[in-house]
Amino acid sequence: MKKYQDYLNCQTMQLNTTDNDNSITPAKARWKLLSSIISSSDTNSLVIPTKFSKRNHQGFNLFSKIKLDHSPLDKVNDKKVENVTLEKKTLTNSEIRLDNHTPKERHEWYSYYLDDNDCINIRIKIPNYYDMKNNLYSKYSGFLYTGNICVWPAEEVLAYYSLNNSHIFKNKNVCEIGGGMCALASLFIAARCQPLSVTLTDGNPDCVQNIQYILNANPKLSSTDLCAKQMIWDCDTHYDITYDVVICADCTFDKQIHSHLLHVIRSILKKPPKSNPEECLFLLCAPQRGDSLQEFISLLKSQGDFHVKLLERYDDFVWKAHQQNIAENSEHYVPDTHYPLIMQAYWRV
Ligand SMILES: C[S@@+](CC[C@H](N)C(=O)[O-])C[C@H]1O[C@@H](n2cnc3c(N)ncnc32)[C@H](O)[C@@H]1O
Repeated sequence: MKKYQDYLNCQTMQLNTTDNDNSITPAKARWKLLSSIISSSDTNSLVIPTKFSKRNHQGFNLFSKIKLDHSPLDKVNDKKVENVTLEKKTLTNSEIRLDNHTPKERHEWYSYYLDDNDCINIRIKIPNYYDMKNNLYSKYSGFLYTGNICVWPAEEVLAYYSLNNSHIFKNKNVCEIGGGMCALASLFIAARCQPLSVTLTDGNPDCVQNIQYILNANPKLSSTDLCAKQMIWDCDTHYDITYDVVICADCTFDKQIHSHLLHVIRSILKKPPKSNPEECLFLLCAPQRGDSLQEFISLLKSQGDFHVKLLERYDDFVWKAHQQNIAENSEHYVPDTHYPLIMQAYWRV
């Protein structure tokens, strides 16, 4: 709740920031941007000062993608979304919105190309006033909407890294946690890495619903067992299912959730046999975002039961794009926020 209260406190700031306003720091401008979204009743007409948006960096051009004119889903498929699995015991009715009648709900569809013939259709939900307000007062407002804004660069990098390291996932039960709106990496793993099963999760029911739409729109994605479900990280929850590989992108920015995240990983990551300690893996892709990534890694190591590797240069193409962005000195590229590192954690057995 605290974060959103902070946003609200910023509402007294003037909302007339433009791209030419050089008198304001980027951090203050981002507060203004958020508060203007929250206080605006019409996000269609909202002018976002692009200079200050943290999402201004458009990723590393790892995939060809095109925007679609219309939804690839027909009405019959849309209805299937109602079957999405939610942990209803932890949510009240007012917090679950599975109907498709949210005021002014808008979304866009994109095709991400795997090769010349094959693509995955991705739905991106555009956050609006109703979502912001609703999530603001929701019990889960500490985390709810970051994954509903966009696909973050770390998620694309994780998808790309996974495709280039497909052996990690072959014949494995894979689970993505905090997959956001699209769980993009999971979709690519399902399509190309021959896993046994893929479970695509997030804590936000809107994200889970959106992921289910995406699965419905890609019926030929994979012959593997695919399932979208809600998984909330919470130290008080007992998780009774384990996976060989757990993946996660850009979920360490909030230090307050680190202990919950670690609890989930310790609960759901299967213990490997002594003969093959690297059989089970927690794979995290995340930018430094201040000292938040390092703090999470320290917490992970402090338990003494994980062997951790942190990779900075894990892929030549991504590394070159990163170097080029730095060389071009683009004001939109902030390595601390945009260049994701790869962390691999294995149980010590
Ligand atoms: C920055 S977003 C990253 C989304 C996606 N992985 C990406 O990179 O585009 C963080 C995600 O973590 C989820 N999250 C945060 N706290 C959570 C919690 N306690 N339980 C479950 N999910 C949580 C949010 O709903 C959000 O989708």
